[in-house]
Amino acid sequence: MKSDRAAAFQNFARHFANAISTVSLYSSGHHQVSRQCSLTLSDLEEALGGQQELSVVIIDNQMVVEGMPLEESLPVSRLSQTLTARGIGHIKVLRGVTLDEILTVAGSLSKQNSRGEVCSTAHIRFGKVAVRFSHDGCGTAAIDPPREDQGADCQVDRGKYCDVYEGIRKHKRLRVAGIMEIVSAFIATVKSEADPLLALAPLRSNDEYTFTHCANICILSLAQAMALGIDGPLLHDIGIAAMLHDVGKFLVPEEVLNKSGPLDEKEWQLVKQHPLMGAHYLLDTPGVPHLAVITAFEHHMRYDFSGYPEVPGHWQQNLCSQMTTVSDFFDALRTKRPYRGAMDMTKISGIMLEIAGTELHPLLARNFLKIMDSFAKTP
Ligand SMILES: [Fe+2]
Ligand SMILES: [Fe+2]
Repeated sequence: MKSDRAAAFQNFARHFANAISTVSLYSSGHHQVSRQCSLTLSDLEEALGGQQELSVVIIDNQMVVEGMPLEESLPVSRLSQTLTARGIGHIKVLRGVTLDEILTVAGSLSKQNSRGEVCSTAHIRFGKVAVRFSHDGCGTAAIDPPREDQGADCQVDRGKYCDVYEGIRKHKRLRVAGIMEIVSAFIATVKSEADPLLALAPLRSNDEYTFTHCANICILSLAQAMALGIDGPLLHDIGIAAMLHDVGKFLVPEEVLNKSGPLDEKEWQLVKQHPLMGAHYLLDTPGVPHLAVITAFEHHMRYDFSGYPEVPGHWQQNLCSQMTTVSDFFDALRTKRPYRGAMDMTKISGIMLEIAGTELHPLLARNFLKIMDSFAKTP
């Protein structure tokens, strides 16, 4: 999200929070109410920019707009507290919002309606963030319930995605349409599976490592995003970004990448170039979402910036990169390595909780473990 749209969203948060409290004090026909709602509407139009829709997720009182955590401010935390108190964790705004709709939602979020339902309008949709994929039928409106016709049989054509990845390795050319097809199939798989872990592909050989790993990261990141109530084009872009996060590895010499022993300093420096090389490669590939370029560049940075590449102090990591880091970390621990066996869930949870807040985004790490935990409890 560009900084001018982020600034417009900050203004939106301020005016919308004011509109809600003004409706609580006066009647909805009061001129102060219409003034605050008009300001809210013009900020919202500016925040939309040229887009058709805007997706906002609230995680532990932090607002994430179009995948980017919003800088904390008093109006933003006031608004996120109001929404959280009403059980709202996800808002989707579609182009075409009217002043009447702003007045309606401000009224339904006001103190006068503290016990009533917060209803969505034609262009402003509210959703609750909850971990879905459960068998008990409860959950959010943002994610489709498991469908009978897509049970465990819904498999992605493994040969097809092998071909797409072979194309990058051999010809250094990416078939974007192929990646999009794979991601759509994964979205359907994750939506239909009771447990996203069941959709993870087993590693058959070393050669298959990179694309098997990328497919797994894609599935795990989609599961994280869906559990946060993200759907539609943003979910698709997150899937593509996760699927392509390690594309730079195809540009690292194979003998270095597949070396069985420890890497020397020069080789390690080459491997550490893969985020930058991947980002450059994707930037030069038409049709790749910008989110994929960012994620390829940022996925080894870590929440506390202890990873690589090094970036200036004011850098703000994209939420998708941080979700990819969480998935990447989990996949590394659950995969058998020459020097250790695959770890069990209890051990992995312990390690992830230990580094939540340092290497991993604390809220995303907890969200991830909550998803895993809900499956452990599912009969
Ligand atoms: Fe990587
Ligand atoms: Fe990776």
